[in-house]
Formats: sequence, C-alpha cells, structure tokens
Amino acid sequence: MTPKGPKAEVYPKRRQRALAAMDHNSVLFIAGPAEAVYSNDVCYRYRPDTNIRYLTGYEDPACLMLGAAGLTLFVEARDAERERWTGPRPGPEGAAERYGAEQGLALDQWPAKLEEALGNTKVVYYDHSLDPYVEVRVRELLSASGAPELRPARELLGQLRVIKEEAEIRIMREAIRLSAQAHRSLAGLVRPGMSEYEAEAAIDHEFRRGGCAGPAYPTIAASGANATVLHYIRNDRTMNEGDLLLVDAGGEYGGYCADITRTIPVGDSYSGPQREVYETVLTAQKSAIDAVRPGVTYGEVHMQALASLVPAMIEIGLLEGSVDECMESRTYTDYYMHRTSHWLGMDVHDLGSYGQDGDRPLEPGMVLTVEPGIYVSEGADCPEHLRGIGVRIEDDLLVTDNGAEVLSAVAPKETAEIEELRGRALA
Ligand code: GLY
Ligand code: MN
Ligand code: MN
Repeated sequence: MTPKGPKAEVYPKRRQRALAAMDHNSVLFIAGPAEAVYSNDVCYRYRPDTNIRYLTGYEDPACLMLGAAGLTLFVEARDAERERWTGPRPGPEGAAERYGAEQGLALDQWPAKLEEALGNTKVVYYDHSLDPYVEVRVRELLSASGAPELRPARELLGQLRVIKEEAEIRIMREAIRLSAQAHRSLAGLVRPGMSEYEAEAAIDHEFRRGGCAGPAYPTIAASGANATVLHYIRNDRTMNEGDLLLVDAGGEYGGYCADITRTIPVGDSYSGPQREVYETVLTAQKSAIDAVRPGVTYGEVHMQALASLVPAMIEIGLLEGSVDECMESRTYTDYYMHRTSHWLGMDVHDLGSYGQDGDRPLEPGMVLTVEPGIYVSEGADCPEHLRGIGVRIEDDLLVTDNGAEVLSAVAPKETAEIEELRGRALA
C-alpha cells in the first residue's frame, strides 16, 4: 500500500528550516504525550504529537531534541514481551536509523540529555506539557541550569507549519476531497427517524472506507435545536422530518485534517424560516470566501462575513438597530459567537500566528476554514419562528497565488442541490 504521509525526504529539510529559524545557541525540546488511558488497562489509539510527526514522521510515543548536535529521538526501548501484545517497535537504534536522527535513546533518557544540552544553551524552545511529570522535571532542569530564555516551540513550528509544502497540499487535497465526498454521501443516507449517532457512524464509516485514520475530531451530528450548541457531540437524539441536521465532520488522512460542516434538512426541504437563516449564512460564507487571497488579512475575512451577516440578521428580525449600532455593540455575538476561520493542517486548529488582532496577511500555501454560522437557541429573545435553528457552513480553502481554491467543493451547499439530493434519497 502506498504511504499516505509525506515521503521521507521532506523531514531533513523541515529540520533544516527549523534550525535556521532558531536562535544559534538554542535547543528545541518536544515531549510527545504519553499513551492515554481509556479504561483500566486499555488505552486510546495513540495520536502522535503533530510537531514530532512534522519533524520526523515518527508516529509512536516519543520525545525530541533538536539543536546544534542535530536530532535526538527518545522512543520506547525494545521489549519482547510488550511487543507480543502491541506489535513490533523500532527501539532507539531503529528509530535513529529509520527517522534520520543523529542519536536514538530510550524515552527515560530525556532528562539526562536535556540537562546536558542546557549546560551550554541560551534559549530553549519548549511548550508547557500537560503531563505533570514532564512539566515539573523540565522546570527543575531549567532552573538548575541558570534559567535560559524560554520561547514557545509552537511559535517556532507554527511559522513553518502555517505555509504548506507541495507534499502537504497533496495530502490535504485528498483528506478534504474524501471528507467532502463523505458529506455528499451522507446527504443521500439521512432519514427521518434515524438517530444522530447513525449519521455520525455513517460519515465516520465513509472516512475510514476512504483510507482515513478516523475522524479528525469528534463528529458533531446535531439535529434540531442541538445545532445551536457549538460543540455538541452527544449525538443521541432521534431526528424528525422538519428538523435540520448540522454535521461538522472531517477525516484525518496521512496525518492531515479536513474540517467541513454542512446543514441539511432531515426531510426533503428547508422550511421557510430555515431557508431564510440558511441563505443568510450561505451568502455570508460565499462573500467571505471571495475575500480570501494573498495580502488580505485573517481578520478581514471575518469582517467580510460580518458585513454580510449583520445587515441580513437585522433584515430577518434577529437583531435590532442599525448596522453600525449592531457592529458597535456586538449584539450579533448572541447568534454568531465564533471567528470565521482558523488554520487547518495536522491539527484541526492548526499552529500558526493570526497576528495582532488578526492582522496577519494571507499567503499562498496557507490552508484555512471559512465557517460562518447562526445559532438561535430555543430561549432566544427573537421572533419565535427563528428559535431553535442552528446553521453553519464550513469549507476548507487553499490560498493560491492570486486567490483561493475551495478544496471541499464536492460537498453540496446550494439549497437546490441539497434538496434535489434529499428528494432522491427519500423517494
Ligand atoms: N470542527 C471544529 C471547528 O470547526 O473549528
Ligand atoms: Mn468544523
Ligand atoms: Mn473549523
């Protein structure tokens, strides 16, 4: 089977670029997460640290050090008994050889090696670890070594990761194409009387069938008023004719994430109020997409969505007052409380600075989402017919030399196309 990730040649070049961006007298230290317990002695499937994977391609528990002495990888030691249960592992020697490290060591060697490296280092790139043992140990070593300057590793790696290489773009295209196709398939499968978890299982099945490692984040299948809860993942309601179903789901393929949302009717058509809200969001989304090109800032894309959303929200009776008043008072945040975009890559909310207040200009090779929404909770102080309606439409865009390419375009979003698909599905 052809590997889904990048070819081995990319990693030394990435490490060269990281070293070139580092202070000349510095070391980068990354502690990948330990395996997480699911229950008793059973663990979750391991998701590698994305910075370690980005710099080496290594996908199992590891720590990494990069500096003037090159790359040191700390990995699980060989253990014949454990390997009978969990499969073969390369061990330190094999990891060094296969992943191009100058040195391979057992995981428990990192404190000694870090201490040694800190002896003649002015700057350390390191991110706060969620593992209390790692965090306390690193802090002890730092203070014992005369407290070198600490800089966030995520900023260093974010500078590199925010601009995607050709190899990354190829993989992301596939991740997003597969995921968009899965949304299209789902639109032909949903039936009144089905549970949200069946919709979740159906789209996750499509991801796996297409070769994804699984969903890139827990799939949101939110019907009816559940769609007004931004991070709803219970997915346990039965869907009825007349509901909308908001599905926010993307597959992870070759280490890269898709992040797509579609909001479709559970029956064969949008009701009057649902259509009104849906078209408002769709118009704003297209307007924001049109704004995406090199030189436009991240924040300007959001402002473009608001410039379309806010007057329409006044028009349909969600907001009162003039556009200026609503912008000034930010009353629109009652119904649209998140930003329009985020970077997308190995992490669904990928690394990379957004600048000061979003003033970072877009550049070719960036991948970002455009995902406005309107969420009217059941208790909202607004015309009754709009209550309980939640709509988000989310696409994934690659910034090109003179504009942008919507990589998720295969997922239908025009009402006519969706209703046509739904009509055929229910016929
Ligand atoms: N699925 C998470 C997000 O849209 O940002
Ligand atoms: Mn999403
Ligand atoms: Mn998103």
